[in-house]
Amino acid sequence: MPTVALSSSDPATLSADALVIGAVSVDGTATLLRGHGLPRSAASHLKSALETTGATAKAEEVSSFVAVPGVKAKRVLVVGLGTGTPSTAPTDPEVLRRAAGAAARTLKKEAKVVLALPTASAEGVSAVAEGAYAGGYDVRRLTSKDAPAPRIDTITVATGVDDGALAGRVEVLGAARAWCQDLVNTPPNLLYPQSFADAVTDKVRETKARITVEVMDEKALAKGGFGGILAVGQASARQPRLVTMTYKPRGAKASIALVGKGITFDSGGLCIKPAASMLTMKCDMAGAAAVAATVLAAAQLKVPVAVTGYLCLAENMLNGNAYRPSDVVTMRGGTTVEVLNTDAEGRMVMADALALASESNPDAIIDIATLTGAQMIALGNRVAAVMANDDALRETIAAIGTGAGEPMWPMPLPEDLRAALDTPNADIAHKGDQWGGMLTAGIFLSEFVGTPKGAKAEPGMPAPRIPWAHVDIAGPAWNDKAPWGHTPKGATGFGVAALLSVLETYA
Ligand code: BES
Ligand code: MN
Ligand code: ZN
Repeated sequence: MPTVALSSSDPATLSADALVIGAVSVDGTATLLRGHGLPRSAASHLKSALETTGATAKAEEVSSFVAVPGVKAKRVLVVGLGTGTPSTAPTDPEVLRRAAGAAARTLKKEAKVVLALPTASAEGVSAVAEGAYAGGYDVRRLTSKDAPAPRIDTITVATGVDDGALAGRVEVLGAARAWCQDLVNTPPNLLYPQSFADAVTDKVRETKARITVEVMDEKALAKGGFGGILAVGQASARQPRLVTMTYKPRGAKASIALVGKGITFDSGGLCIKPAASMLTMKCDMAGAAAVAATVLAAAQLKVPVAVTGYLCLAENMLNGNAYRPSDVVTMRGGTTVEVLNTDAEGRMVMADALALASESNPDAIIDIATLTGAQMIALGNRVAAVMANDDALRETIAAIGTGAGEPMWPMPLPEDLRAALDTPNADIAHKGDQWGGMLTAGIFLSEFVGTPKGAKAEPGMPAPRIPWAHVDIAGPAWNDKAPWGHTPKGATGFGVAALLSVLETYA
């Protein structure tokens, strides 16, 4: 894993494989930002080199030049920051994060990289370092040959900003995100409920993080009445698990529950998916992976907030024991659910864990799940949806997630859609009609969030609920298009940065 450092030295004097600087697009031509700090010889060399190559400095364009006079680094990467003027550096950290990521993606093995991008604040410095770290991620190819060396070895951000804790936080977040990506990229024959649970146990042991891991197997799940997780997992030869990860620092300022959907493969079950839709369904445990990585990062950074992660791990398969449309399942806590489509399995496993999380009376519950195709119809592949039973929590998560480089947009839970879940056969049906499918999934989940301990219902009013938010990451969890910014093809690690930042706001 790469190391991260800040340096106030003149970037031209730092030895490195690559020095990354920024350029803005002025009338369609790449122009170096004033204040780049390079010697005049370097600047004029780069100016004519950019001209010769026809660089435009549109966002994320990377031009590479070797033997730049006056620069110690072996090559200079000029990365586009989009339209601007030479004297006004872009202030949006997201522009910097993506630019750093795009530059890092061009690096070859074991590179030492220095980034001298316009960073005026700690936020900007973090964005640059995070972008470079994430841009260096490679899928672990499972070939018969030896694994190639990691592409980035050291990341140095040249900046006047001085922040003692920043580099360490970027290292922890970067490694946690990469772990999340590794889990999601692992093929489903190798990553199944028990092996996922083992991966978590091993990681906690290796990192010596102060996290207690508990794994419930199918017997424990039956004993605990986790009907939803069992129903979804019962047709798989690899039986379901519920993993809890508990991090409980002394003097915690708050206690937060994180719940992640961990369907290690979603075939759709008896309501089987078409072949093409199944191809990316190893990513259906991305929520659980994000939760596991976030709890790990929070513990490593000693965030003064108690965090319990719940990973709902099951494989949605088909055999003679598969759960069926029209089954009625009794969930944790006793609610009965009529199953209408076995491909709507995520909400079944999540509901059990939301009920369990509520029993510990946390200050808030946040769940994250690749829950619905409707999320992608609404918001596409790069923006996640946030729904909640608490307006402030929803707005905070959307704003903090977006600020952390993981765009999130608030979505409603319209009361009138609740009627779509009425059924004569059980307490609740688990899906409504197609329209607003993301929202009805959210409404279904909201029913399993418990009442805060000690809170009393006003006469005639519904029982108060623990503040809860639901993040649907069906689109953003996986990138099957070309890489962009710091996002590679495949698993994106979406959610780790956002959830970690959200936890930090409770500190
Ligand atoms: N895992 C899928 C949702 C999904 C789709 C995630 C595409 C990532 C990419 C989920 O389990 C599912 O199949 N949802 C169904 C629900 C429907 C049957 C009510 C869907 O959205 O089509
Ligand atoms: Mn499904
Ligand atoms: Zn699913």
